[in-house]
Amino acid sequence: MKFPTAFTEAPQCLQCCNAATTAAELKAALAVRREYVLPGMPMPYMEDVVRAFRVAQGAAVYIEIGTQDRGNIAWLAREKLARNATIIDIDYGVYSDSERRLATELKAQGFDYHLVRGDCLSDPVQEAVHSILNGRVADLIFCDSHYTYEHTISEFALYRPLVRSGGYLLFHDAQWPGRMDAKGEEAKKGKGYAILELDRFYPAWMVVGPDTPLHRPLPTSSWEGHWGTLAVFPC
Ligand SMILES: C[S@@+](CC[C@H](N)C(=O)[O-])C[C@H]1O[C@@H](n2cnc3c(N)ncnc32)[C@H](O)[C@@H]1O
Repeated sequence: MKFPTAFTEAPQCLQCCNAATTAAELKAALAVRREYVLPGMPMPYMEDVVRAFRVAQGAAVYIEIGTQDRGNIAWLAREKLARNATIIDIDYGVYSDSERRLATELKAQGFDYHLVRGDCLSDPVQEAVHSILNGRVADLIFCDSHYTYEHTISEFALYRPLVRSGGYLLFHDAQWPGRMDAKGEEAKKGKGYAILELDRFYPAWMVVGPDTPLHRPLPTSSWEGHWGTLAVFPC
C-alpha cells in the first residue's frame, strides 16, 4: 500500500525506527529469544519488534506489561537497556521456569529487577508499580498483555502518565481489529480500534514488518493477518 505523505512524516525521534531491520539485529534478538522460548511455542516474530525497540537504547527505567517467556526482557537487558536499569515485569500468569531464569540472569548483571504478578489494570498492581518507581517515570513502557478494545484504552490511561516526557509507550498487536465479523460473544472490537481512537488525541506511529515506512494507524481492510505490528506513542 502507498501512504499519503502526511501519514509517513514521523518525528525526528522516531526516524531511527524507519531503517529496515538488519540481519545482524535480527540474529542477535532471535539468539536470546531462542534461549527463553517456552517448550512447544513458536519463535516470536521479531522483524518489527527489532525496529521499534531501537528507541530503547540506553533506557534506565523499563516496564513490560505481559511478559510470558521473559525473552523480550532478556534481549533488551543484554542489548539495549542501561546497565543497572530498573526493570518492572508485569504479568498475571505463572511461568516459573522463565521467571527464575530471568531473575537469575538480571541479578547477575546488576539490574534492579522487579516481578509484579497480577492484573495490570488492578489497584494492587498499580500500587506496586508506583511504589517501585517511587516518584520516577519510565523511559519506555511496552504493553503486550490483553488485546481487547476496552483493556487497551484502560492500559493507556493508567500507564501513559508513567512515561517521562520524551519517552515512549509501545503497544504490540496494534492492528488487531478484533472479531467484528463473528457472531455472538466473539464479536468484539480489538486493540487495533483502540489504537485508532487513541491516535485521534495522542499521535501514534505504526511499525509494521521489516521495512514498511513508519505511518499513522489506519483501519485494516481484512480480519486476518494483523497480529504482530507495533504502535509507538512518543510521549
Ligand atoms: C503475548 S504474551 C506477552 C509476550 C511477550 N511480551 C513477548 O514479547 O514475547 C501476553 C501476556 O500477557 C499476560 N496478560 C494478559 N492480560 C493481562 C493482564 N490483564 N494483566 C497482566 N498480564 C496479562 C498473559 O499472561 C501473557 O503472558
